[in-house]
Amino acid sequence: GAEEDLAPRPPVVTVMGHVDHGKTKLLDALRSSNVVDKEAGGITQTIGAYQVATDVDGTERRITLIDTPGHEAFTAMRARGAQATDIAILVVAADDGVMPQTVEALNHAKAAGVPIVVAVNKIDKPDADPTKVRGQLTEYGLVPEEYGGDTMFVDVSAKAGTGLDALLEAVILTADASLDLRANPHQNAEGLVIEAHLDRGRGPVATVLVHRGTLKVGDSIVAGPAFGRVRAMLDEYGNNIEEATPSRPALVLGLTAVPGAGDNFMVVADDRLARQIAEKREARERNALLAQRTG
Ligand code: GTP
Ligand code: NA
Ligand code: MG
Repeated sequence: GAEEDLAPRPPVVTVMGHVDHGKTKLLDALRSSNVVDKEAGGITQTIGAYQVATDVDGTERRITLIDTPGHEAFTAMRARGAQATDIAILVVAADDGVMPQTVEALNHAKAAGVPIVVAVNKIDKPDADPTKVRGQLTEYGLVPEEYGGDTMFVDVSAKAGTGLDALLEAVILTADASLDLRANPHQNAEGLVIEAHLDRGRGPVATVLVHRGTLKVGDSIVAGPAFGRVRAMLDEYGNNIEEATPSRPALVLGLTAVPGAGDNFMVVADDRLARQIAEKREARERNALLAQRTG
């Protein structure tokens, strides 16, 4: 699109780190709800996405946050999370320090060329050692600003709710310092499927992240091998929304099948075209599978 069509968009931020270091609890605290208590065994299985607002120098700034699981089985999801993102928040529990999935997460972010903000979490714990975390991460090339480096470290407690504003401010400062975050809202929407599942009552439900354009109720869309007409959209609080602008995550109802996490979606002219594209994609996937089996 032309330069004049571009409008500022919120940064998309992936929250990454070792299992149980407090990623989901931190997200809950930032949007003041409670997802952790509802999770099976407290383990994040899928990627959740939310948008929060914060005041920086008297201006309301929005940030899109994407949760990822820390369990070692979810390497692919972390890699995908890093790719879908502008900035990574690396959560490190101050009592545990740097652990294997901390290192894996920071490597995914580095490989994707994504700036990192470190959230040193659980500082309410008696055995918390945030200085040690800074020393450990310095060895991986994340040198805190206070040591002369260029990585912002923020001490937080998701449990006590401390340091949350400072963390969001660090994200905005990092975005403003190193990224040009603009997109054209005046085009057919395109973006990424973050998570999708079959809901008993509602049918296929997909959480999508809009990269460009504005997604509207009534749009015909293709998402991976799935297609359909957007019947309704919900925001992170379950409220109905009529449209989703760049960087906005939204729950989309109306697809005829469940797309895969990481699939791209796009809005097309009408249902017929959506079906054609989806069928072509399905055939291509079927042929690739067949070739794999027979080859
Ligand atoms: P996975 O999604 O399984 O990788 O875990 P996670 O990183 O999302 O961690 P989660 O938010 O599920 O928190 C793990 C545990 O740590 C829970 O029991 C939380 O209540 C606890 N926890 C999280 N943040 C804090 C904190 O700041 N202080 C204390 N004391 N406990 C915390
Ligand atoms: Na957990
Ligand atoms: Mg979690």
